Amino acid sequence: MSRTVYVNGEYCAEEDAKISIFDRGFLMADGVYEVTSVLDGKLVDFDGHAKRLERSLKELDMASPVTMDELLEIHRELVKRNDLEEGGIYLQITRGAPADRDFAFPDPATTPSSIVLFTQVKNLANAPAAQTGISVISIEDQRWARRDIKTVQLLYPSMGKMMAKAAGADDAWMVEDGQVTEGTSNNAYIVKGRKIITRQLSNDILHGITRAAVLRLAKEAQMEVEERGFTIEEAQDADEAFITSATTFVQPVVSIDGETIGTGKPGNIALRLREIYIEESRAKAI
Ligand code: PDD
Repeated sequence: MSRTVYVNGEYCAEEDAKISIFDRGFLMADGVYEVTSVLDGKLVDFDGHAKRLERSLKELDMASPVTMDELLEIHRELVKRNDLEEGGIYLQITRGAPADRDFAFPDPATTPSSIVLFTQVKNLANAPAAQTGISVISIEDQRWARRDIKTVQLLYPSMGKMMAKAAGADDAWMVEDGQVTEGTSNNAYIVKGRKIITRQLSNDILHGITRAAVLRLAKEAQMEVEERGFTIEEAQDADEAFITSATTFVQPVVSIDGETIGTGKPGNIALRLREIYIEESRAKAI
């Protein structure tokens, strides 16, 4: 069934949605995005995503075509028009479509930013991968140096997913200077005893909205949190490993580069964090 999507101020059927071939998102990957999960027809942590979006736009000196209040209304309207119970809303803002291809940024007064949103149906709370855990391989992190900005330059993460697939694994963790940065589209964690270890925030990783909530919940549950880098060897030797993102929530990792983690089954800490994260998200979703 055709979705209703949002493009530059209009709600329309997905097959009628149009963006210019001169759009800088298309020509230059000059755009930012957010993925907000939907549970029970409500938005999970909309504020966190809106704040990160504002920051991404500011870092790139890009104008927002809507206010954050309008953005909330558009998200809600899309949920309603598409009867979305569970899944996500993809949002993309680009530096718009100037009259021709040019490396220099266009004047925002004459070239407004483009905005696109669409819904995606996905089984989030009962995803089978959460029961079995996933396998990851390690790959070199070859992305640009501003990974804290959520841009649509996703070619290397896509290549990483394909490298994982070719190796018979589910995903890849990226490594820079010997230490894990993050997953191709998620943040990466290991667990030792009751201590959760994940890389500290910097320009090297995306500041995950799920990461922030999960670390807060872990501390509230009297778990210890250490924000520092770790190696693949340390991860292979850990009791548990897991990833977080808006599309996976907390998902256990059971093997890294073919080495089994812990018992080879999803760990108790990861499963407990997943449970409390989903519980809180349902309770607080708007
Ligand atoms: N990805 N790190 C990277 C590189 C990501 O692309 C993502 C999210 C995360 C987790 O961020 P959050 O918890 O805010 O979703 C970390 C989204 C889901 C995507 O690209 O589809």
